[in-house]
Amino acid sequence: MEKPERIVIIDCGGLHTQLIARKVRECGVYSCILPNTAPLEEVLAGEPAGIILSGALPDGLESMTRTLPCPVMTIQDEDHALLGVPLQNEAASVNDKQRMIASFLKDACGCRGEWNMEAYAEAEVQRIREQAGSSGRVLLGLSGGVDSAVTAALIHRAIGDRLVCVFVNHGFMRKGECEQVIDVFTRTFPAQLVHVDASDRFFRDLKGVTDPEAKRKIIGRDFVDVFREEAQKLGRLDHFAQGTIYPDVIESGKANGSAVIKSHHNVGGLPGELGFTSLIEPLRMLFKDEVRKLGLSLGLPESLVRRQPFPGPGLAVRVVGDLTREKVAMARESDAILREEIAGAGLDRHISQYFAVLTGARSVGITGDKRTYDYTVAIRAVTSEDFMTASVAQLPYELLGKVSGRIVTEVNGVNRVVYDVTAKPPAAIEWE
Ligand code: XMP
Repeated sequence: MEKPERIVIIDCGGLHTQLIARKVRECGVYSCILPNTAPLEEVLAGEPAGIILSGALPDGLESMTRTLPCPVMTIQDEDHALLGVPLQNEAASVNDKQRMIASFLKDACGCRGEWNMEAYAEAEVQRIREQAGSSGRVLLGLSGGVDSAVTAALIHRAIGDRLVCVFVNHGFMRKGECEQVIDVFTRTFPAQLVHVDASDRFFRDLKGVTDPEAKRKIIGRDFVDVFREEAQKLGRLDHFAQGTIYPDVIESGKANGSAVIKSHHNVGGLPGELGFTSLIEPLRMLFKDEVRKLGLSLGLPESLVRRQPFPGPGLAVRVVGDLTREKVAMARESDAILREEIAGAGLDRHISQYFAVLTGARSVGITGDKRTYDYTVAIRAVTSEDFMTASVAQLPYELLGKVSGRIVTEVNGVNRVVYDVTAKPPAAIEWE
């Protein structure tokens, strides 16, 4: 097989380094990001077809770039010095930038642009087979999210049922989510699947706890404990897999080096503790949109692959204050109604994240001729590029009216629905 073309992007503090890397990949050329401290051998390893410097060049680097064995392009934040040709005074638009990157790749570097998710999947399947050997068994924690599901599908393609998935249901999943994960990984990708319903333990340990951080800590701790207990029952397992993606790798400052364990809620610290010989992270070079494309090309259902972000602690942080099964059920049913109506209105692809929160507020209402004193549900819907900041999505009033009407009639214990119209910052996207 011909060696895949690659472009190395050197991060010299440019604000758009990741965007540039994604644009290069959209042109069908594999790209990777290295810090500007990376040694030259590393930059030139794999014989890059070209190099892009993102940001301001440190002194000395400019003259050094003339000696490199491949074409070099500089993209500064203002886009004034693309290919060394000063543009007009105004900054280039995203389209201009895309066009210039495309022409650099094709005309200057001679790239054919044949890199795609199918090729990536094929290469990764080979790599996983080599890493796992002929008899190695791989353990993976399924979270219900996109990254772990795509990781599982890819590893399953490589080694079939030598992949063992553990899915811990903490009791805070959205409606239909557990069933979907179980269905996909028993039928479409028949891996060995261990499904643990640990909800009793989580509800027991969270009883009366109201502080959001304390809730998160207990959930994180219980999750690791349950996962470890299950893994220990499974006999010899050689490798540990996880769905780390490229932004996690870059942000941990280790784009050029060792594996990074996601510090999220779930499995941090486990691989070493459980005695695995290696870590398998087949998505560690992919951006989120690429992970979704890969998932679709592997045959995962759209509804799973296009899933919006969902916090590890799940609905537990969408019920304000202490948790009971009844309250979590109210949040779950309200959320399902909201999701159904937004999808029905064809808006699901246009809003980055939307969900229902069971607020701690109760208020007076009337149902028939009876006074009620029930809970308030808040609807949250935002648009966001990176979830670090977010704007309020402007849902149509008719839709809000319909959702509200359905929630107060269909969800017992809720008599009022409000719409959260606060941007991030100052409000976080989640309520806890
Ligand atoms: P906030 O609430 O901090 O959320 O504005 C930003 C984004 O992160 C998601 N989120 C989480 N994701 N584990 C996750 O994997 C978590 O514990 C967690 N908490 C928040 C949130 O849904 C939003 O997309």
